[in-house]
Amino acid sequence: MPRARRPAPAHPARRARAPAPTTVGRGKALVLRGRPRAPIWRDALVSLHHGDALDQYAAWPAPAAIVSDGAYGVLGFEGDTSDHLEVPAWYEPHAAAWARAATPATTLWFWNSEIGWAAAHPVLERHGWRYVACNVWNKGRGHVAGNVNTGSIRRFPVVTEVCVQYVRAPVAPGGAPLKSWLLAEWRRTGLPLKAANAACGVKDAAVRKYLDQSHLWYFPPPEAMARLAEHANARGRPEGRPYFALDGVAPVTAAVWARMRSTFCCPFGVTNVWERAPVAGPERVRIPGGRAVHLNQKPLDLVSRIVEASTSPGDVVWEPFGGLFTAALAARRLGRRAFAAELDPTYFQVGVARVAADGAAERRPAWTGP
Ligand SMILES: C[S@@+](CC[C@H](N)C(=O)[O-])C[C@H]1O[C@@H](n2cnc3c(N)ncnc32)[C@H](O)[C@@H]1O
Repeated sequence: MPRARRPAPAHPARRARAPAPTTVGRGKALVLRGRPRAPIWRDALVSLHHGDALDQYAAWPAPAAIVSDGAYGVLGFEGDTSDHLEVPAWYEPHAAAWARAATPATTLWFWNSEIGWAAAHPVLERHGWRYVACNVWNKGRGHVAGNVNTGSIRRFPVVTEVCVQYVRAPVAPGGAPLKSWLLAEWRRTGLPLKAANAACGVKDAAVRKYLDQSHLWYFPPPEAMARLAEHANARGRPEGRPYFALDGVAPVTAAVWARMRSTFCCPFGVTNVWERAPVAGPERVRIPGGRAVHLNQKPLDLVSRIVEASTSPGDVVWEPFGGLFTAALAARRLGRRAFAAELDPTYFQVGVARVAADGAAERRPAWTGP
């Protein structure tokens, strides 16, 4: 049996009640007898761990993207909570560990139900995860929840999930917000503000955006940042040098500055509403009788979309709640390195078999480093 985690009730009103009968799950189509042969399965790009993600994080390299698909508050798997009130406590240690491991370039993709996300959002914010956008996966009327008796459920059927994008709040050395550091550094040079426009070769964007202190602030593109730093160090007061040195020694370069924010690149025309039927057909991992092995298996195309948008070849992707390791599979197909964990021995073994069997011949990893 996987270790069932029963977090302390998060909501004061729940303390008086008996603990909710959480974590039991809704039954599994397959339970494999026996333990996995080894607690870890690896190839050149993928490391899949059997066990609690909390025990693995410290040993994993810093992630460019974290794909979280954990508790929803719907008893979706053994260890899920029975309602959203316990979701914040469930995520608390994970959100803290992700924050410790994150770099300024890390993106967190947080899959959940709408209410599960709403409950978890304050926890994520408290740990420095800054909301970017909420993407809605619309499974359509074909989803089983679209065919229910609305007279009994007394609401519109829910056929959606969300995949919410978070990044790290941009901070400068010493923890100051990046935008105040940029202005303070420029002021230190003794140069007039408008000289920043000339430095970047723009009419007024440098002052209006890069050095602005309001919501209009805009992260300077790497080439613009390099020009600002060059200009400041060449023409600013000599006694104040170096300017714009993140490490206090060398002025920031375009390449270093580029790593101060997350990667994002998506094809034109993709919006935040993802029309996509539930996983079915050959993509769905099933037992011989036809039942799905894991109720929560995510569509490989949607997961590939977020991995590709937020990482580059060779980057590290974390999948703390592996299930059948959809994100690890997507990452490997895209030439990224994946580190994933799964508590449940059956899911772990089936997931490993899935990843191991995935078209080895078709794989062309773009990354061949250590
Ligand atoms: C929603 S499912 C993920 C499904 C997965 N995205 C897929 O496409 O197959 C969540 C999984 O996380 C696992 N899990 C829950 N808590 C965990 C933890 N602390 N560490 C590792 N796995 C965990 C559960 O056993 C469950 O299989």
